[in-house]
Amino acid sequence: MFITFEGSDGSGKSTQAELLARSLRRAGLEVIETREPGGSPRAEAIRELLLSGKAAPFGAFAETMLFNAARADHLRATIRPALARSAIVICDRFADSTRAYQGVLGKIGDDLLAAAEAAVVGDTAPDLTIILDLPADVTVERLRARREAGGEMSDKFEEEALAHHEALRHAFLDIAARAPARCVVLSAQTSVEELAQAILRLVEERLGTDRGRSVPRPSRSSDARPRRRR
Ligand code: TMP
Repeated sequence: MFITFEGSDGSGKSTQAELLARSLRRAGLEVIETREPGGSPRAEAIRELLLSGKAAPFGAFAETMLFNAARADHLRATIRPALARSAIVICDRFADSTRAYQGVLGKIGDDLLAAAEAAVVGDTAPDLTIILDLPADVTVERLRARREAGGEMSDKFEEEALAHHEALRHAFLDIAARAPARCVVLSAQTSVEELAQAILRLVEERLGTDRGRSVPRPSRSSDARPRRRR
């Protein structure tokens, strides 16, 4: 099963991906946690190029191609081999992020994005995409709080403009509306634990009961804090 997490920056995707992986591993399932851009050594090198802004002078078209080049290597080196041995792959962002970010930010047309996605992803589309949804003003507030806390540097694709987050939110909601069998939209304004339980229930439903295993509920542990990987 290939599961992707999508949504705005600051929606808690990385934390939820981690909590889900932990619960599924506790049930004895093999889980590969990965992320985009990145997820393989070559794709991580491209990530550095993209998020540092070093690729920006080449323009939005080149950036779109770089996200796709990273994805092609990630699929080849990490995702497809894991799926082939029946591991569960949990990926923090995937092709929908290119549709949303490069579509909205870079004004790259839908036809081009769709063609690149078809060429790179092919039939390795996610089985389930969880979109964590936040109103744009909450996103802006979370990003500001994060910056003020001084923890992490924002990346090239993170802005604090309200209109930018409004457009991204609608892009993700539009993707969900067009692919209702694959995408589930959940509010990211509920508590970390509640959200983790809702996600686990969803995944259990999709995995079906035929495996004869039940997945333990996530516990209220002290490490269930929002966290961000870099
Ligand atoms: P992250 O902060 O979730 O690790 O994602 C890194 C940034 O890259 C985030 O601001 C969104 C952006 N991004 C794109 O613009 N296009 C893409 O295809 C992907 C995967 C991420």
